[in-house]
Amino acid sequence: MKTSPQLASAFSSALLLGLLGTVSSGAQAQTSQPVAQVDALEGLFGVQAGFRRSGAKGVCASGHFVGLPAGRDVSSAAVFSGEQVPVVLRFSVGGGSPKASDKGRSVRGLAVAMTHPGGQQWQMANVSAPVFFVARPDQFAPFLQVRTPDPATGKPNPEKLKAFNDANPETLRQAAYLAKAPVPASYGSAQYWSTNAFELTNASNISRFARWQFVPEAGVVGLSDDELKSKPDDFLADELRQRVMKGPVSFAFQFQLAAAGDPTSDPTQAWPDDRPVVTAGRLVVTAVDTMAGGACDKLTFNPLVLPTGIKPSADPVLLVRAAPYALSLGRRLSEAKP
Ligand code: HEM
Repeated sequence: MKTSPQLASAFSSALLLGLLGTVSSGAQAQTSQPVAQVDALEGLFGVQAGFRRSGAKGVCASGHFVGLPAGRDVSSAAVFSGEQVPVVLRFSVGGGSPKASDKGRSVRGLAVAMTHPGGQQWQMANVSAPVFFVARPDQFAPFLQVRTPDPATGKPNPEKLKAFNDANPETLRQAAYLAKAPVPASYGSAQYWSTNAFELTNASNISRFARWQFVPEAGVVGLSDDELKSKPDDFLADELRQRVMKGPVSFAFQFQLAAAGDPTSDPTQAWPDDRPVVTAGRLVVTAVDTMAGGACDKLTFNPLVLPTGIKPSADPVLLVRAAPYALSLGRRLSEAKP
C-alpha cells in the first residue's frame, strides 16, 4: 500500500509519542496524546489487568467473508474476489470494564481481521452506532475525564461536565442515538458501523469515499423494556454461541458512498440516508470461542491495516487509532489476568 506523506507523518509521530510515553518540552514533562487517551480510559474504568482498555468485555469468534461483484466495482481489494476469506472476530460491549452489563446502553463492538489467501490483512473495529463520540482526537481524553467520578464526591464534577458538553456538543450525538435505540438482543442482531470514512479505489483507478456497515441478515432486533428487565447482566456470549450452533450467523457488508460535500473527516456526523449503499460482501460467523481467550485475545484490531484498494481518509480520529490500540495491547499483554 502506498502511504501518503500526511498519513506517514501522523502515524510515525503518533507511534513515536506512544513509545516515548511522555515528552519533555523545556522544564515541563508533557504526556503524549495516546498515553493520555489510554490513561483516561483507565481513570474512568480502573486498571483492568489483562483486559482491553476499551471494549474490555468480549468474546472471540471466527468465520469467513465472501466478496461480491458489487464490492469489486468499488474496490480492487483482493477480499472482494469471491473466494472464501477466513476471519477472526471479536464481539464486545463498550467501555473498559470486563464486568460491564450486557444490558447497558453503550455500544456493542464488532472487530474483524480478514486474511486473504494471498496474505494481505484487513483489520477493523466497528461499533453499533452510526456515529462516534469524538470529532477530534484531542476530545477523547477530556470526554472521559469529565465523566470520571471525583474521589471526594464519588460523582463526576457537574460544572466540568456541563462546560465540556456545552463546548463540545457534537460529542453527545452518539449517546443521543444510543438513548433511543433498543439494547441489542444479540451480538448477531446488531448493526455495526465504521463511523470513520475510507477511500476506495477500484481496478480502473476510480476513487470514492465510503463508510461501511455490517447489517445482520436475521434483522436488527432489540430488547423490549420487559425483556431487558428479565435478562441477566451476562447473556450475549452464550446467546451467540447457541445461535451459531443452530446455524451460521451472517451479516451483509455494505459500503455507504459519500456524495460531494459529505464530511469525510468527522465521525460524529452521519451522512444522509439517501446516499447509495453497495452490498459488497457477506460475513458469516461459524464458531464462537467457549472460554475466555481464543484467537482474538492477544491481538489488537488496528483499523489502519488496510488492503490495496482501501485507504484511510484524512479523518484524524481514524489516523490516531493505531497508537492507543498498540499501547493498550502492550499494557494488557504484560499483565496477568486476575
Ligand atoms: C480517538 C479515537 C479512539 C481511541 C483513542 C480509541 C481507543 C481504543 C483502545 C485503547 C482500545 C483497546 C485496544 C486493544 O487493547 O486492543 C479500543 C478498542 C476498540 N475500539 Fe477504539 N478508539 C478510538 C476510536 C474508535 C472508533 C472510531 C471506533 C469505531 C467506530 C472504535 C471502536 C473500538 C472497538 C469496537 C474496540 C474493541 C476492539 C476489540 O474487540 O479488540 N474506536 N479503542
